[in-house]
Amino acid sequence: MTDASGAPPIHARGLVKEYGDVTAVAGVDLTVEAGDVYGYLGPNGAGKTTVLRMLLGLIRPTAGTARLFGRDPLLEGARALQGVAGFVEAPRFYPYMSGRRNLELLAALDGDGAAGRIDEALDIVEMTARQGHKVGGYSHGMRQRLGVAAALLRDPRLLLLDEPATGLDPAGMRDMRALVARLSSEGTTVLLSSHLMPEVEELCNRVAIVRTGRIVYEGDVESLRARAGGHWRLRTTDDVRAQQVLREQRGVSAVAGVPGTASAPSSLRFEADEAAIAALSIALVDAGAPPVELSPVRATLEDVFFTLTEDEPAVDGGLPATADPVPA
Ligand SMILES: Nc1ncnc2c1ncn2[C@@H]1O[C@H](COP(=O)(O)OP(=O)(O)O)[C@@H](O)[C@H]1O
Ligand SMILES: [Mg+2]
Repeated sequence: MTDASGAPPIHARGLVKEYGDVTAVAGVDLTVEAGDVYGYLGPNGAGKTTVLRMLLGLIRPTAGTARLFGRDPLLEGARALQGVAGFVEAPRFYPYMSGRRNLELLAALDGDGAAGRIDEALDIVEMTARQGHKVGGYSHGMRQRLGVAAALLRDPRLLLLDEPATGLDPAGMRDMRALVARLSSEGTTVLLSSHLMPEVEELCNRVAIVRTGRIVYEGDVESLRARAGGHWRLRTTDDVRAQQVLREQRGVSAVAGVPGTASAPSSLRFEADEAAIAALSIALVDAGAPPVELSPVRATLEDVFFTLTEDEPAVDGGLPATADPVPA
């Protein structure tokens, strides 16, 4: 659901934010299409909150432009942008007032039918039973959920959530993820920041992986999974002989021995296309080293994430956003 002009929910180009000599955001292009649950993923300090602040019009970019549904949040402000809601870091409420009273105050500011949505918003975030209690006594998770309820008062088409599950206990995380999935299934476009790959993998269809203010990968989560690659693990009755076979086998590369651990015996690892595996099995049998275990080991998205965000600092210009996350 784009607006009449066809502008996407989020279109940012060349966003930069400098604080003195700290470059928090170093030139970010970001397009979020209607229906996306878009994960903005990076370690602490990568510039996630700063990007969300710029998108919401809370701070002015040093350079670059942001548009939400084609409109400039700096000129209109997130609260004034129709159909846009969200919060950065933690939502803010008056602690000495009840959750409901806080929502009533926000609804009065929002206008536009917001007051009539309070009951439903509380219900969606499962805070109905606690609505009369003072926010000061809420847990972190309850405050996060009330923050989402406050956003829902605006009946948003686009929701921006800054690490919505961070700091929650496992049950709270599960509830928050279920809530995001539900809002998405009901048609809300979501941009969420996270430092947790499993969360992005579970919830998001697209992801930008960021490091020190730059996007180092951008694309759909399925492609990232496909690019993750992997290797094969092999144990045989005679691994010394098997290693020789592997080295001579066509289509097999990167052969190495893997020492055993307390929980796993020693093995061999190598890379190969699936097409090479049948011929390899026969060759191993012929050589008198039949396999007792031969299995593909997929690199996890977590591996890809760490490869992209934890190796040497990016050289000037960084990796191109379309770079292969793992060397072939
Ligand atoms: N208001 C500020 N003044 C100075 N430095 C800031 C400010 N906000 C953020 N930074 C710096 O910018 C970098 C990115 O911060 P932030 O956007 O909060 O990262 P993230 O949300 O990914 O953890 C950090 O190095 C942080 O210290
Ligand atoms: Mg942050």
